[in-house]
Amino acid sequence: MVEIVDVKRNGSYVGRILAGLIGTAVLAGCGVTPPQAVHSPTSPTPSLSSTPSASPRQTPDVSAATELTATGPVPRILDAGLISDAMKGVESRSDTTRHFFANWPIFGLERVDAAIAGYYTDAIERFNTDYPTSPDITAPPELNLGWHLVASSPRAVAIVADGYEFAGASTQERWRTFWFDPSRDAPLVPGDLVDTAAANRELTTGARIPDAPGLDLAAVGADPVSSTTLLAFAEDGSLLVGYDACEVAACSAGRVTFAIAPEATERLLTDTGRAARSATLTPQDPGAEDPGNGQTPSPSPTSGPLILPTVADTVDCRNSKCVALTFDDGPGPFTSKLLDHLRKADVPATFFMLGQQVKLYPEITRAVAEAGHEIGVHTWDHRLLTRLGTQQIRGEITSSIKVVKQVTGKRPTLMRPPYGATNKAVAAEAKRAKVAQILWDVDTLDWKTRSTKKTIKAALNDTRRGSIVLLHDIHSTTVAAVPGIIEGLHAKGYTFVTVSQLLGKAKPGQVYSRA
Ligand code: NI
Repeated sequence: MVEIVDVKRNGSYVGRILAGLIGTAVLAGCGVTPPQAVHSPTSPTPSLSSTPSASPRQTPDVSAATELTATGPVPRILDAGLISDAMKGVESRSDTTRHFFANWPIFGLERVDAAIAGYYTDAIERFNTDYPTSPDITAPPELNLGWHLVASSPRAVAIVADGYEFAGASTQERWRTFWFDPSRDAPLVPGDLVDTAAANRELTTGARIPDAPGLDLAAVGADPVSSTTLLAFAEDGSLLVGYDACEVAACSAGRVTFAIAPEATERLLTDTGRAARSATLTPQDPGAEDPGNGQTPSPSPTSGPLILPTVADTVDCRNSKCVALTFDDGPGPFTSKLLDHLRKADVPATFFMLGQQVKLYPEITRAVAEAGHEIGVHTWDHRLLTRLGTQQIRGEITSSIKVVKQVTGKRPTLMRPPYGATNKAVAAEAKRAKVAQILWDVDTLDWKTRSTKKTIKAALNDTRRGSIVLLHDIHSTTVAAVPGIIEGLHAKGYTFVTVSQLLGKAKPGQVYSRA
């Protein structure tokens, strides 16, 4: 399996400490949650939601985010770029053959990171236990775990872990809020934010009750506010108290939220709770009060003079043994190092970026483009497109194209569907978005082995003339393999080109896996 931690921190995670974080009471009793009843009211459509830029450091003003879905109002989602500087990185785990993809933020805060990572790794473990192999069917099980920022300030930060699991023709969405005070590495529980007794009364008498079949708040016990899986604020300042599917209503309702009106919310909030609400409604960079702490240097573009790869511009792949190296799922914390390797060897590459990662690492994205590499898209958040409806497929493709264009000024012409999974509907949307679909013929299995040596070996053994080589720059082991791959393929007479150079004019919508 694929369980190696990518982003290294000082020390290791301290167990799976979940106690003390919002929503843990429910989680504790959760155990293995088999994919059960259907949750597919109207399919959620990734859409571009406008989020005001709240920080002067936030460049550029890119606003694209997938929305949370629930029966009832949903939390206000903030631009994740706000916390780029406060984060140590993003941890990613994936399995290309078994269709899971998870990523979550690392803050360099021991207790907070342990709690967040524990939630994700537990979910991955459950998926691995439930589906050790992927059946060869058209709709195999899929686990996709992402996150959204819903509050950001020096006193309070909150993310919502947003999970989607599909199995046996049913889908299930789960969520979990993680609130914390970044200045103290202190997870915050509901009781830190609200007077729980008063909030419980409000919840049962004054709150906006979701129109969900079989609604029964008592199902989560006598203290529903402390048992919530989501506590967050809506655009209008309402306090939202939310639950996972099947917890307080029929499973068909999906996740449900109760909304406590802004005036009532005001009376329930503690001082910390008021800071939390401000962190949602008037968000700031968590480092705003202490900009000089130097704890988390912002991702910097590669240093040195700009040297554009020149070899490939004039290369003719009809006469040369061409190969295209491609890097998926980034950009991430190791991409700058990769750019260094590529620059030293004067080798161009192609990056298939996730919209959500571009949003987090705009400077690195720009550096990739400015160094002359090609950028294609890999959807917004790595969903298995063959499972989605037309609108969702369109949203996944166009939102990622839009963010790359906003950051680099160039509109991508290539798209790589996650897991290499495509069908007629995906092809139609790719054509509509004017992007060719790029698969690969060499899978180095770098995501699986996490071995620099094995990654080099696979690339050297399997590459043929015209190959497209699949790599992932979110893994440090892969980035470390790149000099060896370049050296080895150079020795075999290969010329490195971008995918567009390799294919010439790639036709929108069409699928290519080699020249
Ligand atoms: Ni991928």
